[in-house]
Amino acid sequence: MTLVLGIESSCDETAAALVDGERHIVAQRIASQDEEHAPFGGVVPEIAARAHAERLAPMIEAVLADAGVSLGDLDAIAATAGPGLIGGVMVGLVSAKALAMAGDVPLIAVNHLEGHALSPRLADGGLGFPYALLLVSGGHCQILRVDGVGQYRRLATTIDDALGEAFDKTAKILGLGFPGGPAVERIAKEGEAGAVPLPRPMIGSGEPHFSFAGLKSAVLRAHESGKYETADIAASFQQAAIDCVVDRLRIALERMGDCETLVVAGGVAANASVRAALEDVAARHDMRFTAPPPKLCTDNAAMIAWAGIERLGLENFAPDPLDISAQPRWPLDPEAEPVRGAGVKA
Ligand code: KG4
Ligand code: ZN
Repeated sequence: MTLVLGIESSCDETAAALVDGERHIVAQRIASQDEEHAPFGGVVPEIAARAHAERLAPMIEAVLADAGVSLGDLDAIAATAGPGLIGGVMVGLVSAKALAMAGDVPLIAVNHLEGHALSPRLADGGLGFPYALLLVSGGHCQILRVDGVGQYRRLATTIDDALGEAFDKTAKILGLGFPGGPAVERIAKEGEAGAVPLPRPMIGSGEPHFSFAGLKSAVLRAHESGKYETADIAASFQQAAIDCVVDRLRIALERMGDCETLVVAGGVAANASVRAALEDVAARHDMRFTAPPPKLCTDNAAMIAWAGIERLGLENFAPDPLDISAQPRWPLDPEAEPVRGAGVKA
């Protein structure tokens, strides 16, 4: 049976996993760097790269040992090659290249976003193409139509902050610590979603793009006014963000053409309120809804190994050359038009 080693090191999660062709996560290890970055309130690239370099090699060894396999048993080594923090990406990719060379195993350079985009198929064997995908992470906020492995059409992106970034910035403003998403979700449960009037940027716009910078500024003003409870601000922020997502999806789904399934992936997909709202959207559009379990939503190596397995299954599969470069920017849909107001994010 096909067996692929996946390596992930593009942000602040060091991870290695073995996944087989029948969707079993045979072994996996993951080390978060939350403690290292928490004092700075965000991910510090140099600290991240060093932590990956220290942890990755022993972690890969441990994962192979956990499964009782050696390099020669692998059908491929799949590593994130971008987009992400370049220092960390290079640590993972160089390790993968060295192992591929030493073990004479094919190398697969995986787009981290493709890892997220295909992760729902690792969790749900019944999910076929095409599907409508909301990809919401710390660096990205996109709506895509997924027609197959390597076939992505981007219908929407953010013109400023990503959704996860908006959660993280809200957490920082409210003094909830880092990482912000889970902290905002936790405290929002104790708050009243209608308590604080907050804007819903882009709602009503004919284009399905996102914007969260104005919402973040409004959160800051609400906090500084001293008029509101922290839990109420968190709950109101979460609701405003969800309202934006629901409205933007409505426009994108109208344009997307027939898709039976609505899928969410990326770190913010771990949020239960976001998942519940999307389930409603799917029901209203007569679509099935699926989301990977929360542990497969946030960064992990199983999704990278799975993307490798998907690539191996392509008729025209070819391993990547050992001199392939890490790519700090790597859009899933290179043909998507740039959006007015968009920053440098891919
Ligand atoms: O996919 P991911 O692990 O890393 C990137 O590729 O960016 O996503 C991380 C993002 C962070 O912004 C984090 O705050 C957010 O996902 N996140 C959440 C939750 N868990 C993680 N946002 C809202 N609610 C959550 N439960
Ligand atoms: Zn990610």
